[in-house]
Amino acid sequence: MEDTKALFPDKLTGITYKTLETCDVEIPRPFCLVVFGATGDLARRKLLPSLYRLAKNGLLPANFFVIGVARSDMERAAFRGTVRDAVQGALAGDFDFRSWTEFSHRLYYVKADYAQTGSYRLLKRRITDLEKRHGTTGNRIFYLAVPPDIYETVASNLGTAGLSREEKGYAHIVIEKPIGRDLESAERLNRVLRKSFEEGQIYRMDHYLAKETVQNILMFRFANSIFEPLWNRRYIDHVQITVSETLGVEHRAGYYDRAGVIRDMFQNHLFQLLALTAMEPPVAFEAEHVRDEKVKVFRSVRPFPTEEVGEVVVLGQYGKGAIGGQEVVGYREEDGIPEDSVTATYAAFKVFIDNWRWNGVPFYLRSGKRLASRKAEISVHFRPVPHLMFAGTLEGRIEPNTLIMRVQPDEGTSLIFQAKTQGTRVCLGTETMDFFYKKISVLGDYERILLDCMQGDQMLFVREDGVEQTWALLSPLLERLGSAAKFNTFPNYAAGLSGPPEADLLIQKDGRAWRAL
Ligand code: NDP
Ligand code: BG6
Repeated sequence: MEDTKALFPDKLTGITYKTLETCDVEIPRPFCLVVFGATGDLARRKLLPSLYRLAKNGLLPANFFVIGVARSDMERAAFRGTVRDAVQGALAGDFDFRSWTEFSHRLYYVKADYAQTGSYRLLKRRITDLEKRHGTTGNRIFYLAVPPDIYETVASNLGTAGLSREEKGYAHIVIEKPIGRDLESAERLNRVLRKSFEEGQIYRMDHYLAKETVQNILMFRFANSIFEPLWNRRYIDHVQITVSETLGVEHRAGYYDRAGVIRDMFQNHLFQLLALTAMEPPVAFEAEHVRDEKVKVFRSVRPFPTEEVGEVVVLGQYGKGAIGGQEVVGYREEDGIPEDSVTATYAAFKVFIDNWRWNGVPFYLRSGKRLASRKAEISVHFRPVPHLMFAGTLEGRIEPNTLIMRVQPDEGTSLIFQAKTQGTRVCLGTETMDFFYKKISVLGDYERILLDCMQGDQMLFVREDGVEQTWALLSPLLERLGSAAKFNTFPNYAAGLSGPPEADLLIQKDGRAWRAL
């Protein structure tokens, strides 16, 4: 990443910015970051490398430090070594010795037993000492990168130790997904969190919200005047939201086999994309207003039927097949997955939003692992023209307009439209207007999330009511599907295809078709 301008202070706010290739980034105030589960997969693959990259690119303040917390006995030097290996593994060419040395001087390690209040008293003393040494003025972030069943223990013990109190600076807690595994557990976790922390201190992660192109959905809709008048049931026939992956379950068998695709992808990422596509314009582009509008969408989603669930939901599980020419095993043959697992790795939903704007417009959502391509996109399919005056001269039907917002890869937006082909015959052709982001990854997802948390901006985090509303929709559905699972015919799609044939029927019986993967 290249500097085009040095750091520059904003005269009005006093905030310092740094200009990167394509954007200005606000430099956060001094802080201390405590990572619980610092030896784990998430900390090693995403969190600590992202923090290092922020530091290397001059996007962190001069005063900060990091305490890794885990259960093992480890010297500080050994912890630094682990982090160094992790950073080098994750960033390869983006690692340099000078910035690493500077970064590593800010890394500390504390051994803890998460259930013991004594561990938190010790941690508090360590934080207070290091705050003096590093001059960080009392801003604290507690990042829970531990298995979800100990979130409640850590959160309430932080409260008991007085670490959730905002005395000299902020105290933010970051919670990774899954936020509960049903409505009851999500409500319980939220209650525990709220005993020690105010809602404004709680940062519930959904890394999809940190993707530039997901943020662009609202900008695109509300910063252009030409689309919003058409963004309703009068002009839109249906909407498709797709997040397809070529990867399989990877190294997360234990978690994934208990979660399945609905908990892993729909409750969070797909429902967030749905909300951003369907919501009303917020009063202002501020966290609370945006989150209010998203919750209204969730409240308007028509509950899934108690009978005939198969009319609106299709599930699948991958069998063996080929991805990019390489043979891959089926889900049940993956390491750590039981050979009779009935966990779904694919789902397709037909969702209705019962409000004035969307009445009668189906939203088709699909997501799965080991599919034909890696693709995340939202396509808005407009109604056909009302009268076909070219009918006599054209053989085929006119392709209706489609607007495609590509989240990844090839980030950007395309509009498919009809144009006359050249020549004397009356002949139409389908054309595409394309916008591609030239450079997309100035800041990675986790870099953006860390910066926002340091700056106290909750726009890209999910509010308590948003989590509970989505579970209120999905929990009864999961219960019904769970009891029906023994009748399924898994595996029902081969790795490398576009999903089970039943998913095609779900949309075809409405006279529509999925966009190709
Ligand atoms: P890990 O299974 O790697 O666990 C993280 C660390 O927690 C371990 O290194 C271990 O450290 C400690 N730990 C493990 N089991 C226990 C236990 N029973 N009690 C106390 N500590 C324990 O998890 P991940 O890093 O994969 O995930 C962390 C969190 O982030 C989870 O909630 C996960 O759902 C979420 N997440 C993870 C993603 C990923 O890509 N990995 C993506 C999205 C969310 P030690 O033994 O040294 O104490
Ligand atoms: C995570 C899921 O939240 O998102 C994973 O737990 C999934 O199963 C991942 O692979 C997809 O994220 P991305 O950013 O690679 O599309």
